[in-house]
Amino acid sequence: MRSLEKPAARTYDCSHAAPPLTTHVKFGALVTPLLPAPLPWVRCRAIALALVALIAAACSTSSAQRATPFAPLAFDTKARALVGRMTLAEKIGQMTQVDQLFLKDTADIERYALGSILNGGDSDPVAGNSLQAWRAMYEMYQGRAIRTRLHIPLIYGVDAVHGNNNVIGAVVFPHNIGLGATRDSALVRRIAEITAEETRAVGANWAFAPCICVPQDIRWGRSYEGFSEDPALVAMLGAAAVRGLQGANPIDRTHVAATAKHFAGDGGTSLGSGIDKRLDQGDTRVDSATLRRIHIRPYIDAIAAGVATIMPSYNSWNGVKVSGDRHLLTDVLKGELNFNGFLISDYKAVNQVHSDYKTAIGISINAGMDMVMVPEHYQEFIALLTELVQEGRVPMSRIDDAVTRILRVKFAMGLMEPGYDPHADHALEQRFGSAEHRAVARQAVRESAVLLKNERGALPLSRSARRIHVVGRSADDIGIQSGGWTIFWQGKAGNITTGGTTVLSAIRAGAGRGTQVTYSADGSGAAGADVVVVVVGEGPYAEMKGDRLELALDASDRQALANARAANSPVVVVVISGRPLDIAPVLADASAVLAAWLPGTEGGGVADVLFGDYRPTGKLSFTWPRSVDQTVRSAAGRDPLFPFGFGLTYQE
Ligand code: GLC
Repeated sequence: MRSLEKPAARTYDCSHAAPPLTTHVKFGALVTPLLPAPLPWVRCRAIALALVALIAAACSTSSAQRATPFAPLAFDTKARALVGRMTLAEKIGQMTQVDQLFLKDTADIERYALGSILNGGDSDPVAGNSLQAWRAMYEMYQGRAIRTRLHIPLIYGVDAVHGNNNVIGAVVFPHNIGLGATRDSALVRRIAEITAEETRAVGANWAFAPCICVPQDIRWGRSYEGFSEDPALVAMLGAAAVRGLQGANPIDRTHVAATAKHFAGDGGTSLGSGIDKRLDQGDTRVDSATLRRIHIRPYIDAIAAGVATIMPSYNSWNGVKVSGDRHLLTDVLKGELNFNGFLISDYKAVNQVHSDYKTAIGISINAGMDMVMVPEHYQEFIALLTELVQEGRVPMSRIDDAVTRILRVKFAMGLMEPGYDPHADHALEQRFGSAEHRAVARQAVRESAVLLKNERGALPLSRSARRIHVVGRSADDIGIQSGGWTIFWQGKAGNITTGGTTVLSAIRAGAGRGTQVTYSADGSGAAGADVVVVVVGEGPYAEMKGDRLELALDASDRQALANARAANSPVVVVVISGRPLDIAPVLADASAVLAAWLPGTEGGGVADVLFGDYRPTGKLSFTWPRSVDQTVRSAAGRDPLFPFGFGLTYQE
């Protein structure tokens, strides 16, 4: 196979030492200085915005980039005129998002004039998990919505976070941690375009992506949803994902509204402050300058890219729930950063704002939350918010602002066009899971692989080898190599979707004609092989289920590695994981180590690197710690096993 070259080199300035207060990223992204508060923001903001506008004009090169980003403000007059015709019940309906799993009656979409439906984790069509069933479900709900008095369609959201990953047969791309290792914003944009297309194929017009968290402690279960521990790299790739998902302005029927999430500080919580005294949904205890420099920084680029919606986070900032923090949601996000799309809460996140639900709703809406992912007890939510308005505890001006924001986005997505068609574009089915889309995913797998060690010419594998022995439960498992948020909320080991290629299948397909490829999960049968490829990794997980206090390889992988090592053949280790794992104890046993992260359905990309058809170019977007006590990025004086930016390649 001809050597597959990576596109022309890109430059990316990410000086990883604690970045100066003003962090600049080249490469087409906006050069957006971020200065710490407090400053006379009116003056500074005017300068910053002028600078951003100036640089944006200078940086944009392609015609697509020259297209103005999504600009809902252009529809402000139309939105306000429509708000002027709405009853309070219709306004509050627009602010209500319901998970279709909990719809008591489809007629409730009309009865309450609901503004949005989502399929949260594990919320599948009752008719089963197929493109056709998803599309029929969407069309049924959307058909109800346009029968309401004002015929306002649903903005319909799904967690398409690495492809349209809920639907069997969709292409599943590498999770963001792998895309961070590519440093390839053009590739990330293309992946997002395909994700949008395969999402629209089922009708949904809104993706709860990209996650632009900046994980600072890889023991957090959502680390793999982050592009990097470095805010500038996250900013660059997050903006690329927004542009790919949304396309030009306005958003057409092959693109979707994007969601920058979870604002702010989701990746900076302190161990012990989260669920089960771990990290997820915990408290981010940093000063304002640090919050801005690390966790808010990527939102500046996402907003400049025109992101339609932003999802405030579960976590707290210095003890205050962000989803009820008026300073962050209104003063900073909507004021200083000039975000004019709408804020969608996280799943039941409003409930956490106060022990009394009605009080929690009032605090969050007054803080600036525009739409609430209730998503189950929607009648209660609607009744309580109605009471709050009637009691004067939530001003009508806040309701009108929220609904105006929501409708501006719907206008800018073309949902409000006269004669809006509630059907999905059935022609998109032909490209769903297509070979063309899978080829892009395979390229992403190639570029995301990071070569950590390679001695005695262990890699690339020889195509004249007599026998290659492959080991490990993660070697032949689409579910493990796809990770969480794949078909199931938590993901699941096993053959969970169609059209994928496991690492073992890919090695078999890529090996030389005379090479025998054998396999055992436990490492038995390795004796006599020319080389043993041991695939170790983590089982799938999502959110709080993935919080870990240690990062050791699991016992079955350690045993399989020991069995392989006993065979006295060269050992190549491939790591399939959502974060750097504790491999220091086994590093000496391996002649080569390749980090493949969570590659998704196209395991062929791993084999392309193993056989040298693609020379590895991936660079770590997270520091690889020597031990678990180094997992916190700011850990003083840590001496990592492999530093941020590390990655080897093959000699010419
Ligand atoms: C989850 C996640 C969020 C996701 C939402 C809808 O709890 O925090 O990332 O978009 O709920 O599934």
